[in-house]
Amino acid sequence: MSALDVRRVGKTYRARPGGREVEALRAIDLAVPAGEFVALVGASGSGKSTLTRLIGGLDAPTRGEISVGGRPVSGPGRDRGFVFQADRLFPWRTVLDNVAFGLLAQGTPRRAARAAAAAVVERVGLAGFEAAYPHELSGGMRQRVNLARALATDPALLLMDEPFAALDAQTREVMQVELLRIWARHQKTVVFITHQIDEAVYLADRVVVLGARPGTVRADIRIDLPRPRRLAVKHQPAFAGYADRIWRLIQHDVLQGLRLPPEGDEPSAAPAAPAAPAAPAAPAAPPASPEEGTRDVYPALAA
Ligand SMILES: Nc1ncnc2c1ncn2[C@@H]1O[C@H](COP(=O)(O)OP(=O)(O)O)[C@@H](O)[C@H]1O
Ligand SMILES: [Mg+2]
Repeated sequence: MSALDVRRVGKTYRARPGGREVEALRAIDLAVPAGEFVALVGASGSGKSTLTRLIGGLDAPTRGEISVGGRPVSGPGRDRGFVFQADRLFPWRTVLDNVAFGLLAQGTPRRAARAAAAAVVERVGLAGFEAAYPHELSGGMRQRVNLARALATDPALLLMDEPFAALDAQTREVMQVELLRIWARHQKTVVFITHQIDEAVYLADRVVVLGARPGTVRADIRIDLPRPRRLAVKHQPAFAGYADRIWRLIQHDVLQGLRLPPEGDEPSAAPAAPAAPAAPAAPAAPPASPEEGTRDVYPALAA
């Protein structure tokens, strides 16, 4: 049984009755075994947050089914913990009380909740900061509190939506290392959303690449890098190979989202005119194997 099972899930938004529909996700299949670390990568607008919200039960799919630990998802539950980009800490509560909050909300007695929270605070490297308030902490420390808060209730599945996006580059790398250390100890199932490819490759057992408009699974790539992973792994040729392969799968979406011409073309001052789409002269790199669905990456070439 998978820890997470997403079957033929689609999501269509309609901003208001009679308004334009947005198909955010189409026919998403994703099975994640217990303890696996999966990263979801895709251009902005490829439905990453939508999929996380559906798994979290914060919103319902238009089509298909999602189950967590064999139970169909029909709303939020204790089996799933969220970590978002914005830390969402209560500014008027101490670190310890922020981390204990979920346990208290579940009805854990105060003394037990605080003891459990203290243990988690220590595990994320914040021992000594229990009585501090969020504004007294750096961004990286706040994000650790955020992670501690999600871990405190001991969910089987951690859903992390671009949790490190607001951090500076060095802090972000430190947090990546910390997250792997914590994950190795807890053996949680993790679904980690990022648009930073090297973050995905560094962290994950598997990188699921989403294509945009509508969001579909374009590739599912096993990352065969040994663990534990040191940051130096990012300089290995195998690492660069994965990163390059993933970039080739999403670059069309990313550049189109930014209204930039495909890499290698001369930048043009004219805005992208729908009447004359810039035809990519040639793919920037040789196409990858067909099972990666590479033909979808260059729809203009297939046309
Ligand atoms: N509540 C919503 N109502 C209408 N459209 C939405 C809503 N949330 C997301 N979308 C649209 O769905 C698509 C996917 O969005 P999102 O899941 O946020 O992508 P990502 O997280 O990959 O950037 C986008 O086109 C976005 O505009
Ligand atoms: Mg998002």
